[in-house]
Amino acid sequence: MLPTLLIVDDERATREGLRSALEEQFDVYTAAGCAEALNILKSEPIALLLTDLRLGAESGMDLLATALALPEPPVAIMMTAYGSVDTAVEAMRRGAWHFVTKPLNLDEVEMLLKRALHSRSLESENRQLSRQVQQSHKLDRLIGKSPAMNTVTEMIQQVAPTRATILIEGESGTGKEVVAHTLHHLSGRPAAKLVIVHCAALSPQLLESELFGHEKGAFTGASQRRIGRFEQADGGSIFLDEIGEIDPSTQVKLLRVLSERSFERVGSNTPVKIDVRVIAATNKSLRGLVDAGSFREDLFFRLNVVKIQMPPLRHRREDIVLLANSFLQEFASENQRPFKPLSDAALLSLLAYDWPGNVRELRTVIEHGVVMCNEPVIDTRHLPLFLLAAPAAATESAAASKIALENPPAFNLHALEADAIRSALAATHGNRTHAADLLGFSRRTLQRKLKDLHL
Ligand SMILES: Nc1ncnc2c1ncn2[C@@H]1O[C@H](COP(=O)(O)OP(=O)(O)OP(=O)(O)O)[C@@H](O)[C@H]1O
Ligand SMILES: [Mg+2]
Repeated sequence: MLPTLLIVDDERATREGLRSALEEQFDVYTAAGCAEALNILKSEPIALLLTDLRLGAESGMDLLATALALPEPPVAIMMTAYGSVDTAVEAMRRGAWHFVTKPLNLDEVEMLLKRALHSRSLESENRQLSRQVQQSHKLDRLIGKSPAMNTVTEMIQQVAPTRATILIEGESGTGKEVVAHTLHHLSGRPAAKLVIVHCAALSPQLLESELFGHEKGAFTGASQRRIGRFEQADGGSIFLDEIGEIDPSTQVKLLRVLSERSFERVGSNTPVKIDVRVIAATNKSLRGLVDAGSFREDLFFRLNVVKIQMPPLRHRREDIVLLANSFLQEFASENQRPFKPLSDAALLSLLAYDWPGNVRELRTVIEHGVVMCNEPVIDTRHLPLFLLAAPAAATESAAASKIALENPPAFNLHALEADAIRSALAATHGNRTHAADLLGFSRRTLQRKLKDLHL
């Protein structure tokens, strides 16, 4: 049975073009306006809704609200004209899952629909499942549409099907583990295992036997033969997290695995041959550790065949809304509460914050908001206090840092304002009219402030 998709657009050519492109993969319904769309939504179990924001005199936003209030709401993707991204952002705040800009890129539409379907099946998954199990499924979802994340996604698609060793570098909470899962799932061996080892958590001796296994009697306490994690991962992938922390003797053994694809169990001389894809991650610069003398250069070269650099969240503020929205949905359904959007002020404070803990920190802030809010909209007072006290780091703008030197940052209105302006411009892709709307200024006031603040 194909998944059901309802396409709503007042232009016949768009409806029919989409239908013919998608009908092999979806059970497609079409409607030209709100009333027709609602009839279909009420009578058919529609999984996916792809609707234009402008439906002649009617608004796709109203359709969205009604559709999301249904007992089994579809996952909604909005189509929007190029240049009206702010309306799309607004739609996402009201619960749309994503948006695409016209002119449509059919490949993008198709990919989004598939991802949306995946998210829907996750949401309707039995809520009895432990949070941990749900989490491991959700790990496949790498959210982000910023240029920096697009580069990461393209790289993943390019290298996932190969056997190349991959090094993922990035600050804590930027999604390195999510990337490792995604790489594994796209490796073309989905049935094979992904084995995860947190290298920093174990003493050197334990790490060695954890990775490579040991024979009975290899050391005091080794009462049984033990199969190591590399052998467990045979035919699949191994994720070596915090690779920078491993000790010199395990580094030597790892080097050999990478060059010869074989090793010996601790206490044995018989080589074990394996076929494992190695993915390593670190939140330090591995090159830096080599320069400091704590990491072998030859091992670094073996690991650094392909490097994926995870951008910190403060360098891709465009993704904040997307991520926040996805977490809002996740925590609403997890806590069995209705979906609630963020107020403008709450959104602005998320956009202005610097996120030293990256996506992980954003996720906890959203959880806090969902849990603390008893009203229909999540406002700044439902968010943790530190968010409001700490403006975005002034380091990214010389003018702002000059102002910050003159006043303590937490109370500096100029710095706060400059951060809000920067974030609004990032969220609207530099469109000043829309950024001004978001900020509640006139366009002319925004122009003046940009000049005054040397932005
Ligand atoms: N692009 C993303 N889309 C959706 N969720 C994300 C994304 N990036 C990170 N997350 C979520 O943020 C949290 C932290 O991600 P993850 O554990 O992958 O970070 P990390 O880089 O491995 O951090 P650390 O260095 O501290 O181990 C997880 O809950 C993860 O699901
Ligand atoms: Mg991690």
